[in-house]
Amino acid sequence: MYQPTKHEKRKASNMSGTINRRIVLASRPVAAPVAANFRLENETLPSPNEGQMLLRTVYLSLDPYMRGRMSDAPSYAPPVGTGQLMVGATVSRVEISNLAGFAVGDWVLSQNGWQDYALSDGRGVLNLGAHPAHPSYALGVLGMPGFTAYMGLLDIGQPKPGETVVVAAATGGVGSVVGQIARLKECRVVGIAGGTEKCRYAVEELGFDACLDHRAPKLKEELAAACPKGIDVYFENVGGVVFDAVFPLLNARARIPVCGLIATYNGDPAAESKCRTSPLMTAVLKKRIRIQGFIIFEDYASHFADFRKQMTEWCEAGKIKYREDRVSGLENAPEAFMGLLQGKNFGKLVVQVAAEAEA
Ligand SMILES: NC(=O)c1ccc[n+]([C@@H]2O[C@H](COP(=O)([O-])OP(=O)(O)OC[C@H]3O[C@@H](n4cnc5c(N)ncnc54)[C@H](OP(=O)(O)O)[C@@H]3O)[C@@H](O)[C@H]2O)c1
Repeated sequence: MYQPTKHEKRKASNMSGTINRRIVLASRPVAAPVAANFRLENETLPSPNEGQMLLRTVYLSLDPYMRGRMSDAPSYAPPVGTGQLMVGATVSRVEISNLAGFAVGDWVLSQNGWQDYALSDGRGVLNLGAHPAHPSYALGVLGMPGFTAYMGLLDIGQPKPGETVVVAAATGGVGSVVGQIARLKECRVVGIAGGTEKCRYAVEELGFDACLDHRAPKLKEELAAACPKGIDVYFENVGGVVFDAVFPLLNARARIPVCGLIATYNGDPAAESKCRTSPLMTAVLKKRIRIQGFIIFEDYASHFADFRKQMTEWCEAGKIKYREDRVSGLENAPEAFMGLLQGKNFGKLVVQVAAEAEA
């Protein structure tokens, strides 16, 4: 007897199931993004051809790099065109499959962007299986942010027992993992985060030795007191005033993995503080400091499988803790993203686009 698929049932019973909602870039931001830079559009749900599958987004990752994609300034990646779908990593479920290796109900990690559904031919898609323990972790601790922390700290930072590691945005997707790995490597770990609640979490829950509020008027003095032996590794996520506080404390042969500069992404001149180029380069030379930028998948893609194995073990053993900040509803993605650039998220920011069971 003919049994309608879940997809067909939804099509028949729920008109909203025939629509794909998508958020596009309406205009380029001048400074901080505003709501008018985004537009929610509806399109008819696409049908997969042979060799394709239909994916339903359950979780959408919101990440700072998306601010760069909204700009057409030269970068390592092409910008999103105006009127085009906002890019983003997603964890989805296979709704219809005409593709070997992907069964209906499987969870997948892919780059479907800010929308309810997407067609895929399987390229660049990681099948997470039918029952991953925590599907959304593939966007955070077991995905790009965790991988960034792991490679940036271990390959460039090269922390050694007894050294002092400083990391800003310390409770976020990248920073929280950097600090915890540094603790596993027996380093003294000093976090920098926005506000007392985040700082308390970094010390009490994540096990950092200290954590300081970057808005504190005496950040420089407090950081010097928290790093009595200077700083050996500074994992750079932020730039601006945080780097100014770190810079005089760097030890000979310090290493700086330059991961991100979020304080500067909205082009706020005040946030960039005064120009440090000349004293910085003098110190780089005299102290033989190593500064290296990296773009995680361009530089380290071949290490991803090893990373996932190691990080899964650490998470299962309770050695790495992970906090998500979940926002409900695709339509709330723009506001959540604008908040990310102001430090309103507490943990890895993820949008729940559909219920897990519904998908
Ligand atoms: N190179 C790469 O391949 C790569 C890959 C992933 C991420 N990144 C970079 O890594 C950094 C962290 O990313 P994430 O995904 O883990 O984000 P996140 O830390 O979860 O969220 C961003 C955080 O940045 C902090 N922040 C925002 N504006 C700030 C400012 N003006 N001054 C100081 N802190 C500010 C806020 O935390 P507080 O409230 O604690 O200040 C905010 O919560 C970003 O710079 C990102 O671009 C780079």
